Formats: sequence, C-alpha cells, structure tokens
Amino acid sequence: MAATEPRTDLRSLSALSDVGRALASGAELRASLERALEKLEQHRGIVRGAVFFVDEAAADIGVEAAVGIPAEGLRARYKIGEGVVGRVVQSGRPVVIPATAREPLVMNRAFQRRRSSTSDWSLVCVPILLDRKPAGAVAVDFPFSANRDYQSDAQFLSVVASMIAQLLRAQRTVETERSRLLAENSHLRQELEQRYDLSNIVGTSGPMRQVYEQIAQVAQTNTTVLIRGESGTGKELIAHAIHYNSPRAAKPFVKVACAALPETLIEAELFGYERGAFTGAQGRKQGRFDLAEGGTLFLDEIGELNLASQVKLLRVLQEREFERLGGTETIKVDVRLVVATNRDLEASIAEKQFREDLYYRLNVFSIFVPPLRDRKPDIMLLADHFLAKYARLHKRQIRRISTPAIDMLVSYHWPGNVRELENSMERAVLTCDGQVIHGHHLPPTLQTAEASGTVISTSLSDSVEQYEKDLIVDALKSARGNRAKAARLLGSTERIVGYKVRKYGIDPGRFRGGQMVAPLPQRWKSMVQ
Ligand SMILES: Nc1ncnc2c1ncn2[C@@H]1O[C@H](COP(=O)(O)OP(=O)(O)OP(=O)(O)O)[C@@H](O)[C@H]1O
Ligand SMILES: [Mg+2]
Repeated sequence: MAATEPRTDLRSLSALSDVGRALASGAELRASLERALEKLEQHRGIVRGAVFFVDEAAADIGVEAAVGIPAEGLRARYKIGEGVVGRVVQSGRPVVIPATAREPLVMNRAFQRRRSSTSDWSLVCVPILLDRKPAGAVAVDFPFSANRDYQSDAQFLSVVASMIAQLLRAQRTVETERSRLLAENSHLRQELEQRYDLSNIVGTSGPMRQVYEQIAQVAQTNTTVLIRGESGTGKELIAHAIHYNSPRAAKPFVKVACAALPETLIEAELFGYERGAFTGAQGRKQGRFDLAEGGTLFLDEIGELNLASQVKLLRVLQEREFERLGGTETIKVDVRLVVATNRDLEASIAEKQFREDLYYRLNVFSIFVPPLRDRKPDIMLLADHFLAKYARLHKRQIRRISTPAIDMLVSYHWPGNVRELENSMERAVLTCDGQVIHGHHLPPTLQTAEASGTVISTSLSDSVEQYEKDLIVDALKSARGNRAKAARLLGSTERIVGYKVRKYGIDPGRFRGGQMVAPLPQRWKSMVQ
C-alpha cells in the first residue's frame, strides 16, 4: 500500500494541474468549468458531475456547468438546505453518499440517474467557499465500488473547488471594477451634461435670447453649425450646449483646436494614419473623425485651417467618408460637425486664405455670439455668476459687489469679452479681503478713465479718495442711509462722515429704501418655460 501512495499522489497532481489549466484557459466561465469537469472524467473516472452556484437574488442554487447529465437536469434548482447540494451549501461541509440508490436525502433532481438493480453510484459533493462563505458546490458521481477511498476523493474535489473559488473571485473583482467604472463614467457624463446644460449659459439680454433660440432650433438636427464671434464670447460653451442638447448627447464630443496644431499634423489628427504612412508613424492611429463616430466633432478656430486640409475636409463634408493617411480603405463616418471661428471668413476668402466652397458647406446654419459690450444687461448677471463660482472655489465669504465697482464693470468695453470678465472676477475674489468687492479689487485696465468712463487718475491721493468713497457708500448701504450708524460702522464720527458725504457728493437718501441687492441671475430656462 505504502509503495503505491506516491504513484497515486503523482496522478492526483497531474490531474489537478490539468484541471487548473482548464480553469485558467481564459475562456468564458461556464466553458472553463465544463472543461475542468471533463478533466475529472478523464483522470478520476467520474460518470457525471456539476458545478452549482448560489443565486443570491433568488436565494437558491442552480447548475452552472455539467458533464454527463441530461438537459432537464441542467434546469434543476435547490433551495438552500434542500437535498445533498442544498445541505453542502448550507453547512459549508462536504457530504459523501457511498450508495445513492439507498439514500433518501438524494433528490436526483440535477443528476437524473436511471435506477437499475445492477449498478449504483457514489456521490461526493464539496462546497465552493468564497471568503469562507459557500458560493456553490461541486458534485460528482463515481461508479459504486465497495473499497473506494472516499476521503481522498473528497479531498481532491475540495482542491478543485478552491481553484474554482479563486477563478470566481477574480471574475467578481473584474466585474465589480467594471461596474464601478461604468457608474463613474455615467456620473461624469451626467456632470458634463449638466455643465453644458443651456441653463448654465448665463445671460438674458436680447441678443443672447436669440442665440438660445438658435441653439434650440438646430440642436435636434444633424446640420453643420458655424459659430462666429469675437474671442472669449462663449463659442465653445455654445458648441457644447448644441452637442449635449442633441440626440447625440450620449456619444462623444471631440474637439480639434485647428490653430494649436502645426499644419503638418492636422490631417493626421483629423483622419488618422496607417502604420508607415510617414516617418515616425509606427502604428495605426485613429483620427478625430473616427473617435467622434456617432457624436459631434468640434473644429475650433476653423479659420486657421490650411488650404490643403480644407480640401480634405470639404470632401468629408460632401461624401461623409475619408481615408487614413497612407491608407486605401475608405472609412464612412456619421459625425455632426460644429465649427467656430473669430475670423472674418469673408475677408479670408477675398485673400484666398479660405476656400469659398468650404465656406458655403460650413455656413449652413450660423450662430453669431455678440460681444459682451453689446449685451450690457448680461454683464452683472455674469459678474455675479463668476463671483459665486470663484467664491465657492476659493472658499471666500463674499456677499456682493460695491456700487462703484458695478459702475466700473458695466461701463468697461470688455475687449476680451466674457473670458476677460471671468478672469477679472476671479482676480477680485482672490484680492478681496472682506465681504464686498470694491473698485480697487478690479484689474488696472478697468481703473483707467478710458475704460471706466470716469476720469480717475492713478495718483495715490485719488486712489485713497476712491477707496474712502467706496467704504462710506458701503457703510451707508448697510446702515440704510443712517449717517450716525454708518459712522459707528466705520469707527468714525457722524461729523466726519457728514463732511465726506458732502465732499464726495454721495446721496444717503439713495440707501433708505433698504439694502440694495444685485440683480438675481435669472436663467434662460426658467424664463422660457
Ligand atoms: N454666457 C456665458 N455664461 C457663462 N459662462 C460663459 C458664458 N460665455 C462664456 N463663458 C465663459 O467664458 C470663458 C470663455 O468662453 P469660450 O471659451 O467659450 O469662448 P470662445 O468664444 O471659444 O473664445 P475663443 O475664440 O478665444 O476660443 C469660458 O470659461 C466660458 O465658460
Ligand atoms: Mg474657443
């Protein structure tokens, strides 16, 4: 007996390694399990066998993979605690039934054994433990043999069960990670959609309302949109809004900054290339057109595109197909095009810098975003919006903008448009040490006579006077025009405050009606609905 033991062990080992290989084959879980059971047929002489998994949702047990059992057996289900399999899962301990025909616990539901007077089977069933909890069971039938070593069969099968458990753990980790990534992805997408929701575009002025109407008209279609307007007017924001309000919202929004790419790279970026298309093209690369499939391609600063690329772009627009650089395969695309420029395209055409035919293709539906100086009513809405945004971001408690600062903001001509206003407000939030934004928190460009429309020299005494005036106006505002109270707030006397009020020509009566509050930002959506 002792002499045969090492041989048995060796055989077990080679069987186990075969089972392990079957499980690690990388195939689909069920196929791997079936292959492993087939190895048990080959090496251990089982006549039938099955791997059972607990179905947490249904609180029962079903067959995941099997060999040697008829189709109706595959549909068998056990309650936890029911039959041999149910007991093994419930207790987490192996069960061995030497002769199945004589054992009432054997339900024969999955294995569907044919009873006969001449043959019987021995059933060995072991649990699959995942984090010490039963996640299923492996059950196999051997032909009945009086002197079978059930102990070693159960041990062997337990090793197989732990290999299956490992596979299951790896699969579940991948599954969890996958669903986490999916959840994260949909969360990020939602965030993006919210960010580019029309209601996040601030402004209720007439020209902006016209822009919103145009976005609403065109978003639902596949029409190419040309967005025009000076730098910093919000063209990119509008391109996003078109995409996220279109039926393509769930598909990619891909941006190409035409001006940022060197002429030689634009085509490779747009259309991709095949391996070896040019020196350094080591593999195939997808172009932005490919990446935007089903979604929207945003060509920013289209006016900077070189003439050769313009020809290629024109062809895509006409035929909706293109070839990669160095490639022969023609690729069909379903992409919606939105383009933007701050250039005078008509002038570029006259200078032969922009193709006229491309211009007509792009200029199907154009949206003109007006400069900020032409929509004065929006300036304070935007200033409040950015104040709230940056106060939150930099964790500052800033409540309002002082009246002189409001005057400066409204009378400035904003050559850099909304972007300049946004930067000015961020700077003001960062330099502001109290709860109110004053004129001196705004950038120097706004302090000049030309910019603000008021003659203010930058001499020290004038600046100090301006500051003093701001402080007094604020104190009067808080004190609702009451000079004595304002004086207390400033740690001064009523006499001095009275004198300064006259000196600066401030009218305290202006503040009696109550605290003046900056207009509430009204969102376009609430206005339209
Ligand atoms: N109506 C608006 N409401 C809120 N934020 C805006 C609005 N318009 C512009 N902005 C903000 O101003 C900044 C500049 O806007 P955007 O980048 O869209 O301008 P642009 O027209 O594309 O400028 P450029 O031509 O220089 O590329 C962005 O941070 C944008 O979020
Ligand atoms: Mg832009």
